[in-house]
Amino acid sequence: MAKTVLVSGGAGYIGSHVTVELIAAGYDVVVADNMSNCDLTCFNGVKKITGRDDIPFYEIDCCDYASVTRLFDEQKIDAVIHFAAFKAVGESVAEPLMYYRNNLVSFLNILEAAKVHGGCNVLFSSSATVYGEAEQLPVTEQTPRLPATSPYGNTKTMCEDILRDTVRAVESIKGIALRYFNPIGAHPSALIGELPRGVPNNLVPFITQTAIGKRECLSIFGNDYPTEDGTCLRDYIDIVDLAKAHVAAVSRMVDGKMKENYEIFNVGTGRPVSVQELVDAFEKVNDLKLNYRIAPRRPGDVVAIWADTTLANEELGWKAERTVEETLASAWAWERHLAGK
Ligand code: UFG
Repeated sequence: MAKTVLVSGGAGYIGSHVTVELIAAGYDVVVADNMSNCDLTCFNGVKKITGRDDIPFYEIDCCDYASVTRLFDEQKIDAVIHFAAFKAVGESVAEPLMYYRNNLVSFLNILEAAKVHGGCNVLFSSSATVYGEAEQLPVTEQTPRLPATSPYGNTKTMCEDILRDTVRAVESIKGIALRYFNPIGAHPSALIGELPRGVPNNLVPFITQTAIGKRECLSIFGNDYPTEDGTCLRDYIDIVDLAKAHVAAVSRMVDGKMKENYEIFNVGTGRPVSVQELVDAFEKVNDLKLNYRIAPRRPGDVVAIWADTTLANEELGWKAERTVEETLASAWAWERHLAGK
């Protein structure tokens, strides 16, 4: 019988791509989302891509424990992938209580319900933000975590620790934390992708919105960093590749292949790309000119971070496959799909 995976935050950017890949791999998926940061665009896209109109959907807030336990009462859940969280770094600095309450309470509720219902495999969506400005690059999973520079980053570190401690104490719960680098791009069908609310904070949605004419000009934040072309270096991971890493991690858990009851994996490409290189690649692959200018550095940005992906490659049998050009073409196709062009 197919195993069932609960995807909290399953109507969002990463959650929708993960749902598609889980279904393609033969899993049953239950989606929970409070729709606080998305509409039904991606969930409808998921149904179209998978041809499945019957994906159970719970419009619930994971901060409400009664709703979470009701879901666990009604569904036999083999694994949970927890995405339901706020993710805007700047907003988290302005609204720390809102961030701590939402991101911590929702995860505590998931773990509590999993424990009460006899245990579960839990995959937590963490972030490379836990490494801060690392002294040695690329970062491995052993690279020390540094104090986060935002409440958002703190919630990632704290939830990793909550999962680690819970796994230690509760035998029936096993956990994996995936530390994502910079997820970008969209599904090749252009039916699902990133839907930022308001002005995008992240680079690629800002690029595509500038290219389509929604924004006037992209600001490149700083070209005087100690890198080859002076702009920051990141590890941009394709969203479909990222989604496949989740399938590999879930399979490892449900098939009983874990070596420890709590494991951590970096999910990136292992290749640093500068902001300028990314902008140039976007122009080239999509054959267009982007309006951009060099602007002052953005406070809080680290100069460079990229992943050592050896562990994920070897243990999960997973590796990033799409090229940055393919990914940037998919991001542009998605933006045009949204604009009806
Ligand atoms: N950038 C620009 N112009 C923009 C937006 C971004 O030049 O309009 C640059 C940034 O300065 C940075 C790079 O593009 O050098 C990537 O920026 P993003 O905002 O896309 O991504 P970050 O690396 O800042 O963000 C990532 C994750 C977050 C996480 C954060 C922690 O996406 O979830 O790292 O710092 F919280």
